[in-house]
Amino acid sequence: MMKEIFLHSADVQLTKPLATSWLAPSNIAFIKYWGKKEVQLPVNASLSMTLQNALTTTSLQAVPADKRSVSFFFEGSERPDFLSKIETFFQRISNYIPWINNAAFTIKSSNSFPHSAGIASSASAMAALALALADADAQLTGQPLDDTFYRKASFLARLASGSAARSVYGGYAAWGSHAHLSSSSDEYAVAINEAVHPRFKQMHDDILLINKQPKAISSSAGHQLMQQHPFLQGRISQANKNFERLCYAMTQGDLDVFAEIVENEAFTLHALMMSSEKSFSLLHPNTLLAIHEIRAFRKQTGIPLCFTLDAGPNVHLIYPEMYYDKVKPFVTESLTRLCTGETILYDNIGKGPRKIEKEI
Ligand code: PMV
Repeated sequence: MMKEIFLHSADVQLTKPLATSWLAPSNIAFIKYWGKKEVQLPVNASLSMTLQNALTTTSLQAVPADKRSVSFFFEGSERPDFLSKIETFFQRISNYIPWINNAAFTIKSSNSFPHSAGIASSASAMAALALALADADAQLTGQPLDDTFYRKASFLARLASGSAARSVYGGYAAWGSHAHLSSSSDEYAVAINEAVHPRFKQMHDDILLINKQPKAISSSAGHQLMQQHPFLQGRISQANKNFERLCYAMTQGDLDVFAEIVENEAFTLHALMMSSEKSFSLLHPNTLLAIHEIRAFRKQTGIPLCFTLDAGPNVHLIYPEMYYDKVKPFVTESLTRLCTGETILYDNIGKGPRKIEKEI
């Protein structure tokens, strides 16, 4: 599907106030998106699991105005420091939702997770905002909240933050064109739940909060460093192979191959950071201690749990529901002590975003 289908006539105008609220989850990538081309297109296809508990709720009000203006509130306080990011996003989407140029917006947002947790991700925030805007647009054009609506929301979310494109769907989502997945696109994410083996339907993500410090380097800076990265071509071909093998393992219910690829992707992400021209590392000594414990436990018990890492030191422990009773005591006894404030956020595979009636 071409992005042109997301364009609509400039005749659609906001003539009366509109309001909507959406709740969108974060996601954790198993095949990592790291490196992009203009505008917000990935250098490789990525695949993620949408979470259940790490959520952003966003209420949006729009009233007709001569020109665009935005007020943004986060957890009750006005935050002008977020406006430049929102403005860049609005400029990128103004061809697709032209009436935003003649509207005054009030946007209120809050997260279900503590902001100092160090897991603050743009995925849930930007997915919630994109869904709210797509919904306001659908109210004006009379479009139903069908598959095309979610595809457009994913397309818009991508223009704010790549990983947000995947948070528009529950379960598993893929973003980025890949020969193995005919529905895939660089422009938007697609849900990939149909062929997934029942073993992958109930998954845990125990997020070990190793360190809550803000990131030393932003994801945007990291993506940019990939443009000149000496391993760029190798990374693209590795990601393409990993994507195809992971999809196959997930249709076959092969937890061992799944663990092997997910951990390879986590280490690759951080290896790319360490080996970029301006080298950096977001790991903490306890990240490696936790990984050591996880691998030792897997070797000793044969339980196919695995870890992944986002762009930060926190460790995501991934395992199917069927092993919960055996994994729980291991987490309590061996991993909690490695976490700051002994904090672990217990999350799971989630059902995806939803529209909510109550304004926040
Ligand atoms: O969406 P961004 O620009 O914040 O980049 C996210 C990159 C990773 O979280 C590290 C990987 C991914 O695919 O989510």
